[in-house]
Amino acid sequence: MARPTDLLLDVNIVLDICLPRPGLAEPALAALERCRQAGGHLWLYAGSVQTLEYTLAAGLLQQSGAGSAGVQEPSLTRGQALRRSHELLHAFCRDVHWLAALAGDGDVFATDDPEDEQLLRAVRRRPAGSMRLLTRDQRLLSRHPDLTLAPQDGAAPGPGVCADLDFIDLRSQQLALRPALEAGMHRVLDHGQYIMGPEVKQLEQRLAARTGVAHCVTVASGTEALLISLMALGVGAGDEVITTPFTFAATVEVIVLLGARPVFVDIEPDSCNLDAKLLEPAITPRTKAIMPVSLYGQVADMAEINAVAAKHGLPVIEDAAQSFGARYQGRESCALSTFGCTSFFPSKPLGCYGDGGALFTDDAALAQAAREIRVHGQSARYTHTRVGVGGRMDTLQCAVVLAKLERFDWELQRRREIGARYGRLLAPLQARGLGLLAVRPDRDCVWAQYTVFVPQRERVQQALQAAGVPTAVHYPKPAHHQPAYAGFAPLDACPHSIAAAQRVMSLPMSADLSEADQDRVVAALADVLAAL
Ligand SMILES: Cc1ncc(COP(=O)(O)O)c(C=O)c1O
Repeated sequence: MARPTDLLLDVNIVLDICLPRPGLAEPALAALERCRQAGGHLWLYAGSVQTLEYTLAAGLLQQSGAGSAGVQEPSLTRGQALRRSHELLHAFCRDVHWLAALAGDGDVFATDDPEDEQLLRAVRRRPAGSMRLLTRDQRLLSRHPDLTLAPQDGAAPGPGVCADLDFIDLRSQQLALRPALEAGMHRVLDHGQYIMGPEVKQLEQRLAARTGVAHCVTVASGTEALLISLMALGVGAGDEVITTPFTFAATVEVIVLLGARPVFVDIEPDSCNLDAKLLEPAITPRTKAIMPVSLYGQVADMAEINAVAAKHGLPVIEDAAQSFGARYQGRESCALSTFGCTSFFPSKPLGCYGDGGALFTDDAALAQAAREIRVHGQSARYTHTRVGVGGRMDTLQCAVVLAKLERFDWELQRRREIGARYGRLLAPLQARGLGLLAVRPDRDCVWAQYTVFVPQRERVQQALQAAGVPTAVHYPKPAHHQPAYAGFAPLDACPHSIAAAQRVMSLPMSADLSEADQDRVVAALADVLAAL
């Protein structure tokens, strides 16, 4: 379904409101309000600042002169009018987003009206129909009816409050962080060190500091973090790596890629994380590593897993692709084992705008190995000491994650609160067959996905989709039911993983999910379950 339309405000609209101009301010304010009500956002073009400042100051001067009947001299000085214009604009801009003036917006002097051309270019940058220029300029309105809107022309076309929900709302996050994101990206464009630029080291230092781990190595993806960790540990042909089959394919894929064999241990049915009680019997002389997954944003039983691993002298790799920021017994996910590996895939709790990931370790030698493997096994330029991969995270993506860190603690808190609220609101639906994920008391969950267990999943998903509530399944088959990995365990192995794969369903979740939208999800699910 179409998104609500945003409005870019022409200078004349801002003047109508700020001066204010009787008869013109009211329709302009009404148009702004309609846009907000429909879920759209208001924007000002950053290149309009000077025009706004001077035209508003001029308008204030003119008004002050006109206001003092019979007196020629205006009652405001030019300086006072300028200061007043700053105050008014500062107040007006509180609810407005700034649309960047890009380099391409400067080359406009060959056009009829350079200022108008800039605004039109700014609107054209956006996907068609997602933004209109709100203006009183008749020439603009008549020449560009598809890009403009007059204040009195009713609501900007948009679906309003009944639009489909986002499964993950990354747009609100981007709106909030847009200035930091743009600044970070432009910095990279300016210094031009696209590979291994300064942002790479900055991010590694920031992430090491926040997790309390000695070494953080950024890599091309979460998959690459797992692969490089296994390579640094020397896992290869004939080795066994113990993991859970109820995970994203990447966990298993990296083991098989290295010629090793995944050994599947079942999950706890209520948390969907690897059942530590089943771990020890799965260890053989060939076992080279243990790779639990902190699924949905809740850390697995790392203390128990580490204890078994220590008894057998085995390293542990936490697949923390979904759990960055989660806490376990007072410590951070990624800081709990030989290696912690996370993903910055856009939908993850800490995501970039492409692929990215990081691995964490307190072991200096393993960190060095990982750094070398990440750049084709080079210990020095063109000295390939070991076999490696092209596994670097690029500088632009590091800049994006650095910007996202500005708000990450707030987002984590919101995720915890929204998860807890879902839990409270959904609890009564357990009587209708809904199951909730168990979160253990010694840890929290950052809800990379808010996943529940439902009967008749396909029917439930279809009915929710019809109500505008998107859902997803993480994951519909355990690894040993996938053609690529079927040979590694009997089909009936790991029954809890098989059962979970048939019942799990994830609901819309993100730090910006509003209470109203969450209520809508819960009400729709209640209706659907009642009708089964
Ligand atoms: C549990 C798990 N492991 C590994 C990965 C792989 O991460 P990436 O997509 O960054 O390669 C993911 C990402 O979806 C994941 O959810």
